[in-house]
Amino acid sequence: MSKVTVIGAGNVGATVANVLAHKDIVKEIVLVDIVGDLAKGKALDTWQQAPIDNYSTYLTGTSDYKETANSDIVVITAGIPRKPGMSRDDLISTNANIVTSVVKSVLEYSSDPIIIVVSNPLDVMTYAAFKASGLAKNRVFGMAGILDTARYRAFLASELNVSPKDIQAILMGGHGDTMVPLPRYTTVAGIPVTELVDNDTLNAIVERTKTGGGELVKLMGTSAWYAPGAAAAQMVEAIIKNENRIFPVCTQLNGEYGLSDVFVGVPVRLGKNGIENIIELKLDSAETTLLKDSAAAVKEVMDVFDKM
Ligand code: NAI
Ligand code: 2OP
Repeated sequence: MSKVTVIGAGNVGATVANVLAHKDIVKEIVLVDIVGDLAKGKALDTWQQAPIDNYSTYLTGTSDYKETANSDIVVITAGIPRKPGMSRDDLISTNANIVTSVVKSVLEYSSDPIIIVVSNPLDVMTYAAFKASGLAKNRVFGMAGILDTARYRAFLASELNVSPKDIQAILMGGHGDTMVPLPRYTTVAGIPVTELVDNDTLNAIVERTKTGGGELVKLMGTSAWYAPGAAAAQMVEAIIKNENRIFPVCTQLNGEYGLSDVFVGVPVRLGKNGIENIIELKLDSAETTLLKDSAAAVKEVMDVFDKM
């Protein structure tokens, strides 16, 4: 049985802890926040839900990293979220300092954890965590693709009036407006989506997906948390259970897709070692151009971070 630490007990972090506890697959979850009582309170609240919802995962909250000792997996959600009018990249300097210091504190007490980054701007924060950690690249990666793909699947499910469970899809690229949905790799219970939806409708869904995060920021005045929290918990589950699930995950590319030294979302196999391998799809030339443009947009922000 495993120990999972979630850093940041805000909207997303508390949701990761709550969803993960409900899966009843880890022994212990430690929720960490600079506001220690917030972490303590949310951990206690989720622990008090255990007798009702029937799970045994024990939760504690703290601001003391000693209590995170020997964590198998660490999920980093610490940072400030997007406010209306802010792009994800506006968050870079504040969140880069937070992520870097969090990683260093985590590694004082856990020598070789798997780190899943959620803080935005996601691709660059994953890079920042990787750089600060010195860990192998298969052990430091970011959550965004599962969320972006889920939004795309949910929009398609509404349009087609089918269960979202039957929609299989993959989205690549950075977690931003340049993300690359792939209709050619989208099926509804095995049926190519292009047989069920006309091009204009599909394009409108693709465009809505690209700005899906911003749509929620406009509605709520802050960014989303239920689907993001569930997405990160699903990644933890795939690792704990060594499921070898295929998900779009933000990772460092070293030649895959003709790209190097950049962190973007690509399909990977997720198992007990974290990223077991990257899956290289045979993209057509239009898809390749979109992915390269998306990677170039991320690289620009990585360069900003490098110069900070
Ligand atoms: P929130 O404001 O509700 O929670 C953030 C928490 O981090 C706060 O409780 C704050 O006290 C804590 N924190 C700040 N500095 C810290 C530090 N040094 N150590 C420990 N805790 C610290 O924000 P929310 O909504 O939970 O979002 C968290 C992050 O996740 C944001 O950067 C947001 O943009 C990002 N996000 C990423 C998504 C993705 O798909 N990758 C989706 C949704 C949000
Ligand atoms: C989201 O996509 C803002 O990254 C956050 O909801």
